[in-house]
Amino acid sequence: MVSQTLREARKYEEMTEGKINREERPAFHLAARVGWMNDPNGFSFYQGEYHLFYQYHPYSSYWGPMHWGHAVSSDLLHWRQLPAALAPDSAYDRDGCFSGSAETLSDGRQLLMYTGVLKETQPDGRSREVQTQCVAVGNGLDYEKFSGNPVLTEKDLPEGGSRFDFRDPKMWREADGSFRCVAGNCNGEGDGRVLLFRSQDGFQWNFERVLAENGGRFGRMWECPDFFSLDGFHVLLTSPQDMMPKGFEYHNGNGTLCLVGHLNPETGDFVEEHDQAVDYGIDFYAPQTVLAPDGRRIMIGWMQNWDTCNLRSQEHSWFGQMSLPRELAIREDKRLIQKPVRELDQLRCGQVRHENVPVKDETICLEGVEGRQVDVELLIRSLDPEKVYRKFAVRFAQDEICHTAVSFRPYESIIRLDRKFSGSRRAIIHQRRCQVNHDNGTLKLRIILDRRSVEVFINDGEHVMSAVLDTVQSARGFSFFVDGEAVIDVVKYELKI
Ligand code: FRU
Repeated sequence: MVSQTLREARKYEEMTEGKINREERPAFHLAARVGWMNDPNGFSFYQGEYHLFYQYHPYSSYWGPMHWGHAVSSDLLHWRQLPAALAPDSAYDRDGCFSGSAETLSDGRQLLMYTGVLKETQPDGRSREVQTQCVAVGNGLDYEKFSGNPVLTEKDLPEGGSRFDFRDPKMWREADGSFRCVAGNCNGEGDGRVLLFRSQDGFQWNFERVLAENGGRFGRMWECPDFFSLDGFHVLLTSPQDMMPKGFEYHNGNGTLCLVGHLNPETGDFVEEHDQAVDYGIDFYAPQTVLAPDGRRIMIGWMQNWDTCNLRSQEHSWFGQMSLPRELAIREDKRLIQKPVRELDQLRCGQVRHENVPVKDETICLEGVEGRQVDVELLIRSLDPEKVYRKFAVRFAQDEICHTAVSFRPYESIIRLDRKFSGSRRAIIHQRRCQVNHDNGTLKLRIILDRRSVEVFINDGEHVMSAVLDTVQSARGFSFFVDGEAVIDVVKYELKI
């Protein structure tokens, strides 16, 4: 049974979507069908297709009562929007269906698990959101909420657990078919932690243990956890709110944290061995992963920043887009490595290649290297390893007024992404820096531009920097600058969807 609230949302998106000019949207990044989008939800492979749901407020391009939008794809790049999957239409989720995940039940139906939100007036007159976990079952198109909802409430929380900060369940199935999920929670001190729950059937859930605790290290509340094994390690991704920068890590306030370690088989403890940011750019939050049928662990994030998303230069009847899906790996030194999904290679066409181009104290342009839906691979190296160049910079999405730049100073080992001149009329965050590895100035970059974003993959995915861009589409130029002497290789492809 489709509720009236969901029926209205579906009618609204169908009526409104046609008014949006296709050229205004990203070409191969998933964006809101209409209205507002935030976190990816329910990233899964079901009945032969990838499903991606998302936090969705169809009625305006600003955050509001959360629905779940829904899209499917066979290659993670060509997305087909489906009718909204969930609406805040029940007594226990009247004020929002917050983030969650999807799994396949033993009988072949799809199970969604999400956070139900209910506003409650406090004794001091303040309104706060009580959060519980709920499930819904469906066929990949329509979902019915479980009559036993909510399936996890404050009663299931360990000592001191906050019922106001208890959200974002991410499920998986163990080899024996039983279910697990991790969810974010705050303890009595308002400090983030990740709770682990288990279920035999996906409907009756029990608290198992605290899987990880912040201990005041990384921000406060830990949102949107995800937990999986990869390359012989266990990985916990989470998005802490209100982080403090630490060296070159965690500059985004609300940012993304990757903890790599091992699960002690005897005690079940997650032993942390390494921490790092997931993305070092401006816009990336609340990522979620899926295990692809071929064994790849693929991650997608919301390509936005909570601190800046309401300070817009341009208004559209939609807002919010996802990052490129990225293949994850953990290197031996425990570093998270991210690469654009290999499916992207199939969009490549019109190769332009320039090899061994010397650049000395000058800015150059290269024939055929331009465009706004492009995949550009760059290799920069010193002409003489004894005399490392001082600075390299590549500018793109460039015209007389606009450009965005990635620059590198080998003596500092620092890369800077700067979108100050990207067409923004707001004094918001426009720069991010990260510290990278290199050998005498040798650096590899892969720059992927879509109509409204850039993602820079550094040294085969050791670091990634993502940012949305407001730049006019006619700004298509690329230029390359070297202070000192360097040699560059540039391979450029158009990305045709
Ligand atoms: C993260 C988040 C989640 C929550 C959702 C609400 O961006 O705050 O914790 O479920 O967004 O839209």
